[in-house]
Parts: sequence; C-alpha cells; structure tokens
Amino acid sequence: MADFRASTIYQIYPKSFCDSNGDGIGDIRGIIEKLDYIKSLGVDYIWSTPFFVSPLNDNGYDVEDYKKINPLFGTMKDVEELIAKAEERGMGLMFDMVFNHTSTRHEWFQKALSGDKEYMDYYIFKDGDPEKPPTNWQSKFGGSAWEYVTSLKKWYLHLFDVTQADLNWENPKVREELKDVIRFWKKKGVKGFRFDVVNLISKPDVFEDDTLGDGRRFYSDGPHIHEFLKELVADTGIDEMVTVGEMSSTTLDNCIRYSNPDEKELSMCFNFHHLKVDYKDGNKWELMNPDYRKLKELFETWQTKMEQKNGWNAVFWCNHDQPRIVSRMGDEKKYWKESAKMLATCIHLLRGTPYIFQGEELGMTNAGYGDISEYRDVESINYYQIMLKEGKNEEEALEVLGNRSRDNSRSPMQWNSGKYAGFSESEPWIGIPDNHKYINVAAEEQDSDSILNYYRKLVRLRKQYAVIQNGTIEFIYREQPEVFGYKRLLKGQELLVVNNLTGSEVVLQEILHFEGYEYLIGNYPQEISGDTLKVLKPYESVVLLKRI
Ligand code: GLC
Ligand code: CA
Repeated sequence: MADFRASTIYQIYPKSFCDSNGDGIGDIRGIIEKLDYIKSLGVDYIWSTPFFVSPLNDNGYDVEDYKKINPLFGTMKDVEELIAKAEERGMGLMFDMVFNHTSTRHEWFQKALSGDKEYMDYYIFKDGDPEKPPTNWQSKFGGSAWEYVTSLKKWYLHLFDVTQADLNWENPKVREELKDVIRFWKKKGVKGFRFDVVNLISKPDVFEDDTLGDGRRFYSDGPHIHEFLKELVADTGIDEMVTVGEMSSTTLDNCIRYSNPDEKELSMCFNFHHLKVDYKDGNKWELMNPDYRKLKELFETWQTKMEQKNGWNAVFWCNHDQPRIVSRMGDEKKYWKESAKMLATCIHLLRGTPYIFQGEELGMTNAGYGDISEYRDVESINYYQIMLKEGKNEEEALEVLGNRSRDNSRSPMQWNSGKYAGFSESEPWIGIPDNHKYINVAAEEQDSDSILNYYRKLVRLRKQYAVIQNGTIEFIYREQPEVFGYKRLLKGQELLVVNNLTGSEVVLQEILHFEGYEYLIGNYPQEISGDTLKVLKPYESVVLLKRI
C-alpha cells in the first residue's frame, strides 16, 4: 500500500454516503457501488466511520459489538467485499476504532451493571453520594460526565453521551480485548486504523474536581497514554500500517511523540486547534469570525515544529464533526467555486497527509436546517436546550446550530440533481439542502473547471511531486493575516503557494517574484504574465514550481 506521506485519504460517513436498498440510510453496498468514483479522485485510502453493531445514539461511536456489522448498514460479507473491491482498485480501507468507550449496551457493560466485579473493572465506577457526582467534570455533549447506577450504588464515567461509558485502560484485560479487535480486522484485510479520541484513554490516578475547567486537563494526553499506545501497536503489529489518532485538546509535544516513527506509536494525528479560531473565547457555541492571524500562527507552529522533530500531521478542514469549510471560511454564494478551491489549495500542499471528507470535493455547504426538528445529532440537540437555558432565544440558538452543528456535514452526499440527490430512492434519515440541484457529482463531472476536478488535480500533484510529499516548509507573508503563503523545498524543486483567505482583493506587502517558476495550479483562469505578482483577486490561489 502507498506510503502515507504520498497519500491522500478519503473519509466516508456511511449513513450519509449512498443508500443501496432504499431505506433512506446509507450502507456498505452503497459504498461498494461508488468505489469507482472514489478511485477517480486518486485517493489511496478510505477511512470509514463506524458501522459496527450500535444503538446509534452517537451514530456508531457507541459500539455494542466491535466485531459485528450493524444490519442497518449490511453484513460481514458486504464488508469483506468492500475490502476486496477497494484493494482491487489499489485502495486500502481504514476502520474506525472507538476504544475510549463502549455503548452501555455492550455485553461488558451489561455484565458490569448486573454487578459482575470482573466487568465492573472494565469501566470507571466510583463510589459516592447519589446526590453529588465524584468530580465536577463535564461531558463533551453537555451536563455531568458521571451517571449514577442505583442498583450498584456507584457512578460511572462517560466523557461523551450517558450511553457511552469510558473504558478502564488501567485494566490489562481491557487492553487485551481491544488488541483482539484490531487483530480481527487486520486479518480481514483492513489496511489501517483511525483511533477515535484516543488521547483520552489514560485517566489520572486521582479523580479530583477541576476548578479551572471541565476536567479535560486531567485526562487529555493522560499519564500513561504513550505506554498504552506503544503496547497496543507492538502487540498487534500495526506499526507498518497507516494509523491516525484523533487527538482532543492535545499539545504539539504530545503529537510529536504520537507520530514520530522512532516512537512506534501512530503514523499521524488529527488536532483541532485550527478549527477553533472562530470560537468566541474558545466556546464552540458562541459565533465569531475566523481569526486569520491565529489560524496562520497555528499552522506555522504545527507545521514547522512537526518537521523539526520528525512528526507528521493529518491535514484537513472537514470531517463528520465539523461544519463545511466553504460555509465556514469561504463564501457559499458569490465566490463559492473560488473559495472552495482556495481552501483546498491551502491544505493539500502542506507537509502532512490530506484528508477529504465526502462532499468536500464538491464544495458542499452547511445544511441550512431551519428548525430544531431537522437536527439529528445528540450534541446539537443537547446544546440547543443548554443554549435556551442559558438565555439565548430560539432564533439565536438555531443560528448557532446553523453554523456549528455536526449535522452540517452529515447531510446526504449529493450525487445528482434528482429528488433525493441520488443518495436514496426514499426520504433520507436527514434532510438534503436545496443546493443539490447544482452542487452534485453529476454536474461537476461535466464541468472541467469544477471544484471536483480541482480536487482531483491536487491529489494528482501530491503523487507527482516529491516536494509536496517530503519537502520542508517555510511560511511567507507571515505578517499579512489575509495571505496564507508557504514555500516547500526539496533538492531540485521549490513550490510556492499563495492564497488570499478573503473575499476582497489583497495587495501583497511584498511583491512576489517568480522568475524561473512555472504555473502549476490556481483557481482563476491563468492570466499571470510577466514575472511578478502584486495583487491577489478574491480568494485567489496561485501555485508555482521552480526546478532548480
Ligand atoms: C469523536 C468522533 C465523534 C464522536 C466522539 C465520541 O470525536 O469523531 O463523532 O461523537 O468521538 O466517540
Ligand atoms: Ca440503506
């Protein structure tokens, strides 16, 4: 399989990708039907979010059985066929391992609930006053992170939904069970893994109130995290596979350790700092325009430090938890095409492995839901109530959800302009934006200048040029917040990438001289003449290459 440094990874959210049997819910056979499309993007790996048996309170991130397929999505045979057919096309599957917690419907938790001591030790149960949780920690989906079980007279920890109980990684039996899950899927031919919120698995020895925050500083990148990861990787023999850890509220130093090959932990990490630059005072539920200075600083720090210390970033704007980037930092209307292409350019030529989330390659927008009844996500529904309680009116709370809800990325993939966007033959489980009339695969296949075809070019460029895969990085226009610019260097090649983050013309503080460079890709008709550039058009991207 392809080296992850030369690879691009496509993310699928199965429930919203393609429905093969007309029940309104995407499924595994739907993915199989679309493998040629995915291949046409030029990607090397497909990461699918979970489709294991689950009550779907958090759409599969609440796993009831790690080795069985949820019948709603298909059968084990379908999954085997998916792996085989992807491989025939030269693509590897990456499965999503949710190892911080299980569903409370998991057999282990059910046994724990019945008072079985062995299984109680699989989770984090604490004694305490039924009126007062053991600590003041908050669940990431709102409310206390503890739930009281009357029959046991104990509380259990759930950093996410109350039906997602945190596993006790201190217990070696838990670690063995999870290794067994990896071995099971590895044997089936899976080529890599994504580890869900994996930097939260190591909890502190002492559980105490957090007087400064919601508790995260005690368990993010916790005390035994590196040991646990090393053990998991060594004992399952996955150090040569492509692996990515989702790191919640992490630090650069930890991500260097997670991803430096000498440490034998993971291939790369997702971090989310760059996706909080539009959170007012760090609060996801308070809107603010993106702070470009901060955005650029974060990219610069993470890119250059990871390079110096031989770590590796997963680079991305979108996933199933994030609003759509064109709505968030671009312009859905006037400069829809230009801004979507510019944002793609920023990410795909960085040092790191780029991820494309289904529909991003079409410039899909936020869903535009207007009523709370249109939302499906547990986090959105909880926070809607919390926002109302904290004093927002309905209109204000809906505006926040319209910008921040995870459902913005979970609306069905837009395949064509038909009634259900070619996603299904019947009404989907979640609504489809009207703009599927023109934002869809069929339309963009026809248009040589489409966002879709631009993504294909970017993916191809990474394959073609070693400088994109392995070049060093140096940031330029550092003092100009609206310009996202960098150079990539590798013996004999120099790449120059300049992007205007805004919808207005920008005069470059320093004229860009590009004598001896060739034009590689950009999002305006190629009009660059002469050998200097002074002004960038709205959302313009220019990429130049010099062979030294
Ligand atoms: C990750 C997943 C998200 C899920 C959470 C809890 O952040 O991406 O969708 O809700 O973990 O498993
Ligand atoms: Ca279906």
